[in-house]
Amino acid sequence: MSKRDSRCKVAVLGATGLVGRTMMKVLEERNFPATDFVPIASARSAGQNVTFRGQEFVIREPSAEVFRDVDIALFSAGATASREWAPIAAAEGAIVIDNSSAFRMEPNVPLVVPEVNPGDIFKADGTPEPIIANPNCSTIQMVVALKPLHDKYGVKRVIVSTYQSVTGKGKAGRDALESELAGEAQEQFTHFHQIAFNAVPQIDAFTENGYTKEEMKMVNETRKIMGDDSISVSPTTVRIPVYGGHGEALNIELAKEFDIDEVRALLASSPGIILQDDPSARLYPMPLTSYERDEVFVGRVRRDYWHPQTLNMWIVSDNLRKGAATNAVQIAEVIVVKR
Ligand SMILES: NC(=O)c1ccc[n+]([C@@H]2O[C@H](COP(=O)([O-])OP(=O)(O)OC[C@H]3O[C@@H](n4cnc5c(N)ncnc54)[C@H](OP(=O)(O)O)[C@@H]3O)[C@@H](O)[C@H]2O)c1
Repeated sequence: MSKRDSRCKVAVLGATGLVGRTMMKVLEERNFPATDFVPIASARSAGQNVTFRGQEFVIREPSAEVFRDVDIALFSAGATASREWAPIAAAEGAIVIDNSSAFRMEPNVPLVVPEVNPGDIFKADGTPEPIIANPNCSTIQMVVALKPLHDKYGVKRVIVSTYQSVTGKGKAGRDALESELAGEAQEQFTHFHQIAFNAVPQIDAFTENGYTKEEMKMVNETRKIMGDDSISVSPTTVRIPVYGGHGEALNIELAKEFDIDEVRALLASSPGIILQDDPSARLYPMPLTSYERDEVFVGRVRRDYWHPQTLNMWIVSDNLRKGAATNAVQIAEVIVVKR
């Protein structure tokens, strides 16, 4: 990967987290051509070992020195760590693929889903941008499903309600559910309210317009990735006590008339999508069926009962994989292939 030779040293910042661990697994599974590896996490974990491709590596704390000679740095340690360390890693020559929200809406930072806008990774001279942002998990799975529909029929408006896994809030989000299910007293609720046996219609803080930050990410990131500011997204994001993936109910208003069988065939043949849509066999995607899979699963495809140019469908994807780790590794693969 390095211009000097075929070395490709990969760093994972956040290597002890849910996304970081999944990144390591995905790098292994996809035989990513890493010639060296450096796991990085906070001072809490520094000095511990992690296993990557059967070899033990010592976890380091972030520093300029740690990023020296790194070719690709996958970041998943939250926005504060990204703001501090991404410019330093980039100055050391690494290409940073950042999972946090720190740079997503910066005009000079591409926001990339490889099935949708892989070309945005590169500058006009064909070299990759130094910092590339990975979108929010709820946005990634939605744009993978919207892209073929937008290209063929034009997406005008999307009303989306999400059913998001507790793992979207990292280790703390997963542990909160397990602790509540075990009946342990909570000092404060990680998901704002009890999440066990419940559904919480708030993910992240509210903004002044009444939408949460998570909802505004879906609004703004969709337009940036699809390169079309005319698409209006109207979201309600909800946390539910499941593992395995996020579900999203989409109501999509299209600019052109469509045939429902053509829509199904289009979705089934589009990259990154698996159509699971046979009501007679009770076949539709669920969080547990998307668990540890890299694709976006689509089902319940049907015409809106009242609006003939509008489509309803249900999509599910593993938020830790396509919603985070897999998407980041796919971006890294595009860079490696181009070199
Ligand atoms: N979970 C998802 O579905 C999802 C999806 C898309 C994007 N993301 C984004 O990915 C990032 C990580 O999420 P996660 O779910 O993996 O969280 P997590 O399970 O809580 O893991 C956080 C990781 O970041 C490390 N870390 C925290 N502060 C650090 C610091 N100052 N310096 C170095 N390392 C630090 C932690 O290390 P220690 O173990 O040492 O504390 C841990 O490895 C977040 O930005 C999140 O928004 C998550």
